[in-house]
Amino acid sequence: MKNKDNKILILDCGSQYTQLIARRVRELGVFSEILYWNSPLDKIIESSPSGIIISGGPRSVLDSDAPSVPMHVLDSNIPILGICYGMQLIAHQLGGKVGHGKSAEYGRAKVSISSAGSLFERIKDEKTLEVWMSHWDQVTELPQSFSATGWSENGSIASFESSDGKISALQFHPEVVQTTKGIDILSTFIFDICGCTADWTLGSKWVEREIDKIKVKTGTGRVICGLSGGVDSTVSAVLTSKAVGDKLYCIFVDHGLLRKNEADQVMETYRSLNLNVRRVNAEERFLSALAGVTDPEKKRKIIGELFIRVFEEEARRLGGSDWLLQGTIYPDVVESGHGGGNLIKSHHNVGGLPDDMKMQLLEPLRDLFKDEVRKVGKALGIEPHFLERHPFPGPGLAVRCLGELKKERLDALREADAIFIEEIRNFGLYNSIWQAFCALLPVRSVGVVGDVRSYGETAVLRAVSSLDAMTAEWVHLPYELLEVVSRRICNEVPDISRVVLDITGKPPATIEWE
Ligand code: XMP
Repeated sequence: MKNKDNKILILDCGSQYTQLIARRVRELGVFSEILYWNSPLDKIIESSPSGIIISGGPRSVLDSDAPSVPMHVLDSNIPILGICYGMQLIAHQLGGKVGHGKSAEYGRAKVSISSAGSLFERIKDEKTLEVWMSHWDQVTELPQSFSATGWSENGSIASFESSDGKISALQFHPEVVQTTKGIDILSTFIFDICGCTADWTLGSKWVEREIDKIKVKTGTGRVICGLSGGVDSTVSAVLTSKAVGDKLYCIFVDHGLLRKNEADQVMETYRSLNLNVRRVNAEERFLSALAGVTDPEKKRKIIGELFIRVFEEEARRLGGSDWLLQGTIYPDVVESGHGGGNLIKSHHNVGGLPDDMKMQLLEPLRDLFKDEVRKVGKALGIEPHFLERHPFPGPGLAVRCLGELKKERLDALREADAIFIEEIRNFGLYNSIWQAFCALLPVRSVGVVGDVRSYGETAVLRAVSSLDAMTAEWVHLPYELLEVVSRRICNEVPDISRVVLDITGKPPATIEWE
């Protein structure tokens, strides 16, 4: 392979933790990139990493069609770390043996390690490690010139490496917090074995470099952008406006499904950031298109299509453009097959654009994870209050207002939601909760407010903790907070007469209600 770049390549064999591995590497200050296990060899070679991590995965290496990596990669002399399935794959492909274990080893476990393992150099005083396991198969025989460096409590091989230390493998997951020395192990691999240096920071230097790149790329062309009020589109627009100035035209489609005062507040933020934004008030258009619709998928479809129609009309009014700026971030790229195959997903911010689109795509944040986008936003001077807002779905309150979408129902939901969030902030919990909101159910119940009978709908409180929205746990909110929120909603929102708490995780539920 050619000269190595200061980065780690992760070959994804389908693990739920692949993006977490990539983030852990970046948190250590080294750029990481994810490619699928079956990416063309040319693409892997072109990536020229300093080291390769082969991820875990749900399959068995014994299946005939299971993921594998090109032998060229294993022979390349580039340091390799196999994790879980990655470990079994290395053993299997290099002539060792893998068998189905008698039972799965899942959850917290203890592993005893040998001080001779070069992967354990930074923790060589430890005898046992607390780790996280999640596997069924196990390595039963090592390839030639490999030796075991760690053992599970049941005596099975928990780690091994080649005699030159270039290829190492772990049955457990160093990337999850439950593996207490996981970061030390990853550091040993990245810095000591691969020789990387920690140069991946997202401060002013990154920003300056990106501004230069955008200038060169767009030349004298015009750039158009749809702002949603969210962090990703705002950070891309501010970054791009620093590069192209008034050649950037932003369009903010207000579909009337935003939270209380949100449209005014985001316009205020855009103005303070000197963005050239045109607000399109399309509430009536959206609500009349949605009249009588209760099916969640139909709601989403109508909103997505109308959004594009309004955006295109405005774009035409502005006289066309050479570039379409998108707030695509790395998880979108990875989930859509690394940007190569699936254009619909990479257009996710505007919901799918025509195939014959003349504009070229500009996606300055496509290499970044969400927390990295926030760092760039900070370096660009965007206020923390804006950057730290909870995620909000594109179809807005439509997916939180179950049943038919009417202005009065949306207004009631907006009020209840604003009370919930205000009290969460009063209790100092906003930044420790990943996402919190109210949903409105079309279920009426009898209440009594000030001696008067009420017969209103039901508000649901939903607060979750999560890392990446793939899984989530409900937050155990203090009773005092729940009490004040419930009292205030029933007193202040006449159309709501009952407040309930959602205590469902994801899975089995999703975070949103529709
Ligand atoms: P679910 O409900 O699928 O949500 O567990 C996971 C995360 O994604 C957000 N979400 C969306 N974001 N467009 C978006 O931009 C959408 O259509 C959409 N649906 C859900 C949701 O708020 C949560 O953070």
